[in-house]
Amino acid sequence: TPRVFSGIKPSGDLHLGNYLGAIRRFVPLQETHETIYCVVDMHAITVWQDPADLKRWTYEIAAAYIAAGLDPKKSIIFNQSQVMEHAELSWIFNCVARMGWMERMTQFKDKAGENAENVSLGLFAYPSLMAADILLYKSTGVPVGEDQRQHLELTRDIAKKFNHDFKKQIKANGHRGDFFPVTETLATGPAMRVKSLKDGTKKMSKSDASDLSTIYMMDGADLIAKKIKRATTDADALPSEAAGLAGRAEAENLVGIYAALSNTSVDDVLAQYGGQGWGAFKPALAELAVSVLSPIADEMKRLVADHAEMDAILRDGADRARAIAQPVMNDVRNIVGFVR
Ligand code: TYM
Repeated sequence: TPRVFSGIKPSGDLHLGNYLGAIRRFVPLQETHETIYCVVDMHAITVWQDPADLKRWTYEIAAAYIAAGLDPKKSIIFNQSQVMEHAELSWIFNCVARMGWMERMTQFKDKAGENAENVSLGLFAYPSLMAADILLYKSTGVPVGEDQRQHLELTRDIAKKFNHDFKKQIKANGHRGDFFPVTETLATGPAMRVKSLKDGTKKMSKSDASDLSTIYMMDGADLIAKKIKRATTDADALPSEAAGLAGRAEAENLVGIYAALSNTSVDDVLAQYGGQGWGAFKPALAELAVSVLSPIADEMKRLVADHAEMDAILRDGADRARAIAQPVMNDVRNIVGFVR
């Protein structure tokens, strides 16, 4: 069976973008793929994290995975730092990836901003650790939101260069063809880039200054409704087909959110609401969002209250992840020429 890997950073409270772009789409893949879902705590510390917050958010993400419908018996659910092979493979990838490739990463440039001299070395190497996450399991598909596309291109570049640089050794170790697969970015459908509710040019993110711009998974029903009601929009009615959303970023965002939450398409939503104004659409969207998110938030609260149960799930996941990772890592050590 094909294998899928994805991860979320415990660096802030989970929001609607994380749910629609990632978590929601993890669930159905359990039925068709071998699925590995990680809480990437080693990625989180590339910027400063208060250790108590890091723990809290690690549990919160693992709880969200399960509350949203992941079955820890079917999917492997674990936190990255419990499987040290991630760090080991990322070091080797640091020696495969080129400085120039990393310097082109827009996420690094955005995060480093004016202050590139004073960010952690880990932040620069971030995409190399991400490639290690994925390739350690020889994963072929990665469900993510749009913002991760460039990182996954880099993952493919690292895989290709490794396969090329070590071609002879890969063959000598008994592998026919490439050692690492070419991974596919799974990012299609509505809401692959959920925008801030206050600014249609910005993505919804864990670290937005405006309280009303982001819907958090743990927000209560009233707060969700208030945020949607106050969302910035233009004054026009909804168009009757998707083409009519061109140039209307805020409208496109809210309709995309509706489509994703209701498991339909943008065209289906517009077939229903085309011609209507925001006064009709926003309450319907708020009701839909609450009906989807509230049960998940309730289950998350129940799960995070029981650390013993969460610890057991993460430990079992880490054991199963390691069982896949170790033989791959043994091959990698041989291929690279490390004496055992
Ligand atoms: P992170 O933690 O920033 O985000 C987790 C997932 O949520 C998606 N996402 C969004 N999707 C749509 N609209 C948004 N506004 C939005 N904001 C976030 C992200 O695309 C992502 O799928 N580098 C990754 C974590 C990672 C990873 C990996 C992912 C580490 N190793 C291996 C896949 C495979 C990150 O920072 O995600």
